This record gives sequence, structure tokens and C-alpha cells, in this order.
Amino acid sequence: MSTRVLAKRRLVTLALLRRESIGGLYHVLTFEDPDGSAAQPGQFTMVRGAEWGDAPLLPRPMSYLTAGHAPSILIKVIGEGTLRMGRAEPGEPFTLLGPLGEPWRAPTPGRRVVLVAGGVGVAPLVFLARAIVEAGGPKPIAIYGGRSARDLPLDDDLAELTELHTTTEDGSRGARGRVTDILGDLLGPDREVFTCGPDRMMAKVAELCALRDVPCEVSLETPMACGYGVCLGCPVPTHDGAYLYACTQGPCVDARRVDWSRGDHAPKKGAHLPRSQT
Ligand SMILES: Cc1cc2nc3c(=O)[nH]c(=O)nc-3n(C[C@H](O)[C@H](O)[C@H](O)COP(=O)(O)OP(=O)(O)OC[C@H]3O[C@@H](n4cnc5c(N)ncnc54)[C@H](O)[C@@H]3O)c2cc1C
Ligand code: FES
Repeated sequence: MSTRVLAKRRLVTLALLRRESIGGLYHVLTFEDPDGSAAQPGQFTMVRGAEWGDAPLLPRPMSYLTAGHAPSILIKVIGEGTLRMGRAEPGEPFTLLGPLGEPWRAPTPGRRVVLVAGGVGVAPLVFLARAIVEAGGPKPIAIYGGRSARDLPLDDDLAELTELHTTTEDGSRGARGRVTDILGDLLGPDREVFTCGPDRMMAKVAELCALRDVPCEVSLETPMACGYGVCLGCPVPTHDGAYLYACTQGPCVDARRVDWSRGDHAPKKGAHLPRSQT
């Protein structure tokens, strides 16, 4: 595993090397970075097309899928920014600000890692699984879920790196149901969980882990505007009644710090910056 010495963020303009489409909605974008990205698993980058003009104005936060001289991201098309990314052609210039945020903490020796991924939340977990395997650690267990088989991009990567269990709500791949339906059977005193996906999924994973006293680390995908602590637009409620800022104190945090009962971890209307990014 990599150490906790974090690389300084850089703002770079990189050419898109290739775009691999997985179904219509998911794309892996790989960039050409002559200097190499020193991002660690769990860190993210703020990405924007260098030729987008003034809309969308703000860069979009994306977890690193890989680092080095060919850093990559996995995107799911949900709005204007990701639509443009999903149509990008090789050679197109993008600005990337990164690496940003707290990476996953190092797995605890003696505990087997259980990765719990929902949909596009798989990217930082594939990066983590690869780091664990390359460091000679025990093969992680992974549970990967989505609505249907087409919502499981990168399932082949996870299958290679982990002992993989899949779930789909429509039963088109793996067990019918949700990741949390099978997580309980895979928890134990010698396990620890790393999870990324929709808030509701992570809240349930955190609850199951707390009940069994299993350590759980989550990666928060709170909407962000700046990505490095300036706009105060990414507060997440914590148990002490305060907030943590997902971009600088996360995105990877101990699940017990988050007050999941306060539900919506995105900025509320009127608080700091508006949730919708322009
Ligand atoms: C640290 C971090 C890592 C992320 N990693 C990835 C990744 O690896 N791959 C990936 O595809 N996405 C990732 N995201 C989410 C990604 O940033 C958003 O999907 C993206 O900004 C949407 O941009 P857009 O212009 O396409 O959509 P917009 O037009 O900005 O939004 C479309 C709709 O989606 C909602 N929305 C936007 N962002 C989010 C969000 N984060 N959570 C819930 N709803 C949202 C908006 O409110 C709006 O209703 C990550 C987010 C964070 C904070
Ligand atoms: S996104 Fe600006 S402070 Fe977190």
C-alpha cells in the first residue's frame, strides 16, 4: 500500500488518451500525464473540459480509478458535465486539479478487507483493491450492486482483484436484491469494510457495521464546487452536531463520524453555495 504522504495538488491540462464506453451510460476516460499523477486510492480530481466555454462553469469531482502516467476516471452520465465527458474524443484537452482529499486509510493488518460498491462508486474501490493486491495483501472480498447488470461497470476488474459477490435489484446478475442483503453474512470480527455508493446504501452499510462492531470507512460523494476547502459548499453533518467538509476532511472518513440520520449530506438550499453546480 502507498504511504500517507500526500502529493501536492497540481492544475494540469491533459489530453484525453482514450475513452472506453461501457454501455451507453458509463465511460472510462484515460488521460496522458507526462509528469505522472501521484494520487492515492480514494483521492479525487476536479475535471473540466478545457474547451467547454462558460458552461458548465465548474469542474466536476471524480475519483481516480488509476494514477501514474495514464490517470483515469470512471464516469456515469447524469448531467451536462458528464454528458460532455462521455462524448469526448481522444486528443481533447481537459483540466484536472488534483490529487485532492483524504485517501482511504491503510487496511488494518490481520483484518480482511470487504469492499462494498454501488454503481459508479466502484472506481475508488477498484483502485484500492489493486493497491492491496499489488502490495501482496490478502485478496479482498467485494460486494458490488446496482439496479441491473448494466449498472455494474468494472465488474470484470473487481472479479480479477477480489472474491466478488454481485447483486442486482432486478436479478439480472448475481443475487436478486441489494448489497446490504448479503453484507451481514460477510461481516465478522476479523473484517473491515470500505464502501462507496449512494448515500442511502452507505448509511445502511455503516449501520450494519456498527451493529457488528466492524470498522467501516466511507467515501462521501457530496456535490462540490471548489474541491479544496475554499467555497464551504460540501458540509456533511457529524455526530457531534457539527459538520465536516467532504473535500478536505474527506471524501474518505470513518463512517462513525457521519450523522447519517441527518440524511441529506449535500449542502441545503441557501447554505453556503447552491447544491446544483453551474
Ligand atoms: C469526491 C467525489 C468523487 C466522485 N467520483 C465520481 C466518479 O468516480 N464517477 C462519477 O461518475 N461520479 C463521481 N462523483 C459524482 C460526480 O461529481 C457528479 O456525478 C458530477 O459532478 C455530475 O456532473 P454533471 O454536470 O454531469 O451533472 P449536474 O448537471 O451537475 O447534475 C445532474 C443532477 O445530479 C445531481 N448531482 C450532481 N452531483 C451529484 C452527487 N455528487 N451526488 C448526488 N447527486 C448529484 C444534481 O443535483 C442534478 O440533479 C463524485 C463526486 C465526489 C464529490
Ligand atoms: S467543495 Fe469547496 S469547500 Fe468543499
